[in-house]
Parts: sequence; C-alpha cells; structure tokens
Amino acid sequence: MTNDKQLMTTKLGLIGGGVMGEALLSRLIARGIYLPSEIIVSEPQPARRNFLAQQYNVAVTADNCQVFTTATEVVCLAVKPQVFSAIAQELANVIDKGHAPLIISILAGITLSHLEAAFPQLPVIRAMPNTPATVGAGITAIAAGAYTQPHHLQTAWQLFSAVGEVVEVSETLMDAVTGLSGSGPAYVALMVEALADGGVAAGLPRAIANQLALQTVLGTAQLLHASKLHPAELKDRVTSPGGTTIAGIAQLEKAAFRFALIEAVKAATARSQELGK
Ligand SMILES: NC(=O)c1ccc[n+]([C@@H]2O[C@H](COP(=O)([O-])OP(=O)(O)OC[C@H]3O[C@@H](n4cnc5c(N)ncnc54)[C@H](OP(=O)(O)O)[C@@H]3O)[C@@H](O)[C@H]2O)c1
Repeated sequence: MTNDKQLMTTKLGLIGGGVMGEALLSRLIARGIYLPSEIIVSEPQPARRNFLAQQYNVAVTADNCQVFTTATEVVCLAVKPQVFSAIAQELANVIDKGHAPLIISILAGITLSHLEAAFPQLPVIRAMPNTPATVGAGITAIAAGAYTQPHHLQTAWQLFSAVGEVVEVSETLMDAVTGLSGSGPAYVALMVEALADGGVAAGLPRAIANQLALQTVLGTAQLLHASKLHPAELKDRVTSPGGTTIAGIAQLEKAAFRFALIEAVKAATARSQELGK
C-alpha cells in the first residue's frame, strides 16, 4: 500500500483512521492543506485500510512505527485513549531525536505530561475537537507542550481549521473545554429533540416538528455567528411586549433552563477532571 515515491514526500502521519481520523484526513485533502501523496495512515483493520487508500489515495500501513518514522512534519494520534500506552511503547523503539515531528494528540484525557513522558523532548500538542468536526463545523481547543515552538502551533491551527474553528487554551482549561464544547453537542441534540417534542405536543406532525426544531437551532446559531450579536440582544429583539416569545421564556426560566445548562457544563467538567486522575 506504500511506495518509495510516497514515503519520500510524507509530511503527515495519522495513527488511527477512525471517525475523527477520517474527518481530518478528508478535509485536509479537500482543502489542499496536504496532498494525498503527503499522508500516511496506520490502521489495524485491513478492510478499513483498503477503504482509506481507495477513498483518499493515501498511503496506508498496519505499522505505527512506519508512520512515525516517515512523517516529516506532524504525527497525529487519533486512536482511542485506551490504546495510548500500547502505542507509546511501540513508538518508544523508534524515537530518534534527529527526527522530531510535531506530535498532536486528540485523545480525550491524555495529558501533556502523559504525551511528554511518551515522547521525551519532542514538541507535543494536546487537542480536543468535537463531533461536528466530522462535518467541518467543529471547534478544537489546542494546548501546547513545553517543547512546542510558535510554528508548531501554527501547524496545529492550520490542521484543525480544516474541520472547524480553533482556540488555544492553557491545558488547565481542557476539562472545561470538554464540559462545554466536547459534551455540548449532546446538550444541543437534547434541546433539538425536546423542541420537536414540544411541537408534537402542540399538534405538529413529527416530521415537520423535527425539521422546524433543527432548522431553528441551526439558523439561530448561524445568525448569532454572522451578526456577532450577544445572545441576550437577539433574545430581546424577538420578545415583543406581552407576546408569545416572552411567554415561552418565562416558562423556561421557571424550569431553570439556563441554570440547568450551567450545571451541566460544570458537572461534565468535574467528571472530566475525575476521569483524568
Ligand atoms: N469522535 C469524536 O467526536 C471525538 C471528539 C473529541 C476527541 N475524540 C478523540 O478522538 C480519538 C478517536 O476517536 P474516534 O471517534 O475517531 O474513534 P474510532 O472511530 O474508534 O477511531 C480510532 C481508530 O483507531 C484504530 N486503532 C485501534 N487500535 C490501534 C492501534 N494500535 N494502532 C493504530 N490504530 C488503531 C481503530 O481501529 P479499530 O476500529 O480496528 O479498533 C479505529 O479505526 C479518541 O481518543 C477520542 O477521545 C473524538
């Protein structure tokens, strides 16, 4: 699946070509950030390797060490956190200080100190993307390790820009990022479902209620994003005196809607801190 020409020009190595790995791969290629011939992906399953090779025309291998030793710019770890220590052990045999690609990990809960213990004195970046990255609408928080230079951050920034927006945070804030943007898609999904249920309760057919709920959330997010309006300002603009919207908002306040979301983010942050211990 690999040939000499490809390996001479390999810039990006991807370890793990699952959901998130493929999201990155597809958009990095579509945006022309890397050419297919500049990418190598390691994957244990032959069927998945064949699929990635055929779909994206990238080099594929079952050998993580091959990815690590041939990628000149970046090695991105996109496996489940449970296999991190096994992969770190594998790669320990081929770490050579003369070859120091930037290591980017998207593994939830794997800290910079874990990464720096596994890749001593190498530039490492911990990143936390979220599920909407799979449709190019994600947001990724990145935190830099001790040996990371500004150009490494630039590389990570460019890489994750392919799947959405990017913010840089100190690593101490990664649990809060997890509680907000990492877990947030589930909160929003819950809200879309509940809005649609409300529509059905008010007499709408299910399919129309689902469509109205989803597009309302999507459209409002797009409006807030494009207009840069503060959410409270938008809310004020759509609440007329004695009108329908303020009647709905009063009910949400009675049910402590905003408090529930604040507490959800705090609870998810606390859980992320617990899991990281
Ligand atoms: N999905 C998200 O929305 C999201 C958001 C934030 C962070 N993350 C992080 O992203 C990482 C990947 O998540 P994912 O959703 O993409 O998971 P996934 O779809 O399960 O992808 C992981 C891939 O790695 C492969 N793999 C397993 N063991 C390997 C090994 N030893 N060497 C090389 N590849 C190996 C898996 O192959 P097999 O299927 O054969 O095991 C699979 O294709 C996780 O650490 C997660 O914490 C994901």
